[in-house]
Amino acid sequence: MNASTASVNVLKIGLSKAKDDALLLGFFKDKVELAGEIKLLDNVLGGIISRYIKDGNFKGEKSEVKVIYTGNNIKNVVLVGLGEEDKFSFEILSGVIAGASRKLRDGRIESFSVFLDSFNNKKLEDESVVEKIVLSSLIGMYQFTEYKTKDKDKIKRVKQVTLITGSGKNFENGLMRNLVIADAVNKTRDLVNTPPNIATPEYVSDYAKGLARKSGLKCTVFDERQILEMKMGCLDAVGKGSVNKPRLVVIEYKGAGKERAIAIVGKGVTFDSGGLNVKPYPYILNMKDDMAGAAAAMHVIESCAKLKLPLNLTVVAPLCENMIDADSYRPDDVLTAYNGMTVEIKNTDAEGRLILADALSYAAKTKPLALIDIATLTGASTIVLGSVGTPFLSTDEKLSERLKNASKSSLEKLWELPLWPEYEESIKSDVADIKNISEEGDAGVIMGAIFLKNFVGDSPWAHIDIGTTVWSKAEKGMLTKGATGATVRLMMDLLINWKA
Ligand code: BES
Ligand code: ZN
Ligand code: ZN
Repeated sequence: MNASTASVNVLKIGLSKAKDDALLLGFFKDKVELAGEIKLLDNVLGGIISRYIKDGNFKGEKSEVKVIYTGNNIKNVVLVGLGEEDKFSFEILSGVIAGASRKLRDGRIESFSVFLDSFNNKKLEDESVVEKIVLSSLIGMYQFTEYKTKDKDKIKRVKQVTLITGSGKNFENGLMRNLVIADAVNKTRDLVNTPPNIATPEYVSDYAKGLARKSGLKCTVFDERQILEMKMGCLDAVGKGSVNKPRLVVIEYKGAGKERAIAIVGKGVTFDSGGLNVKPYPYILNMKDDMAGAAAAMHVIESCAKLKLPLNLTVVAPLCENMIDADSYRPDDVLTAYNGMTVEIKNTDAEGRLILADALSYAAKTKPLALIDIATLTGASTIVLGSVGTPFLSTDEKLSERLKNASKSSLEKLWELPLWPEYEESIKSDVADIKNISEEGDAGVIMGAIFLKNFVGDSPWAHIDIGTTVWSKAEKGMLTKGATGATVRLMMDLLINWKA
């Protein structure tokens, strides 16, 4: 599907030896005088860069991108502004590279080079700069064109990105890791962007089987009959109202022998109409993205296998469609989850926590080292953090610390909310053990987590609510319009640095 991911390589050569359609040079604000390698290149080009800058055409403002046509070995020199030198960060670097990469692609450049040494204020580690450039360029240039039929041949694509550096360091491992991560992010976006009439529970479970087969992973798919036999009363009930019957996908990666596994559970509602509590327009739009947790989890485990990480990981993905039918589950129904708890339904649109109840209790039974669920669980996540960051909650301080560290280095912003016991009162039911919503309607993200906590046993657990960050309405920095691939970079950072 996403055949657009460019190849990336590193060249350790002098700039004046470079040959490409374009070359990106980074400059800090008001520090646009040429020196070293860039000055040599300018001499080779007959002073074209220095004249352009002297004429006041480029100041090095953050995200400023100016293209100078040279007609030489380097056909276009691209001056990229990095803003103030002392404010420079990986985040600024990533946003700038993503934006510049897109601009070149849209200008029909098919191959470009980046002069690595100019994209560092000497404070960041060269290895990490390479990693962020690769990741942000490949993620920033993502586009979903699968369902366009007109002018397919006119779709613009960058095929090759080359990093040029004088550094003696070895970038191989970081480069390889980040190619795998970028691919995982973009494939997650592809699957989430795929329309819901195509990406049904069966389609997604077949996709999981294919992915597992290619990476040598064990994959088990339970169908609607087995879901019922296993007494997953919640997944069964939510999935019942659709002709596209539910599936439960379990994928296992073993990179550490007999050690206990980490478990990731991903919400996989392939379309959330709200059920009998139907979502009104426009809230019903985009509800194909309600399987993004499952999509992320599947590509995370695939990446762990590709990178041969020394850990065991299990992914559990409950897949279903929340639809309206004579067979739909109802408000006031009482369901029995896989762990035996009874749940009174007060709103059929709070379906994610129900299918996660079964999936989490299934995963908890395997006594995982850590249990993490990723879910587009609430619209209320927008109220908490807007589209800037993702709320999470955890029962375990160590796991929460690990997530915060992964958040810092992956640049996927997370913020922790509390699981105070006072909230538990709000989901007590008059007829069953608990109900699926708090009828007061406050603290939506927390209430979702308070519900889920009943199904995790004593596993160290974290819940990540990507209800808002799953989707971007705008093209901005590393984000393009549409599915974001939320948590893939975060999870990969967490797992790469796991160490028991
Ligand atoms: N899938 C939605 C959450 C969602 C809403 C994700 C908007 C992305 C954008 C979830 O199943 C849902 O409908 N949640 C309800 C919960 C409520 C009924 C307690 C919500 O957030 O309104
Ligand atoms: Zn819903
Ligand atoms: Zn949902």
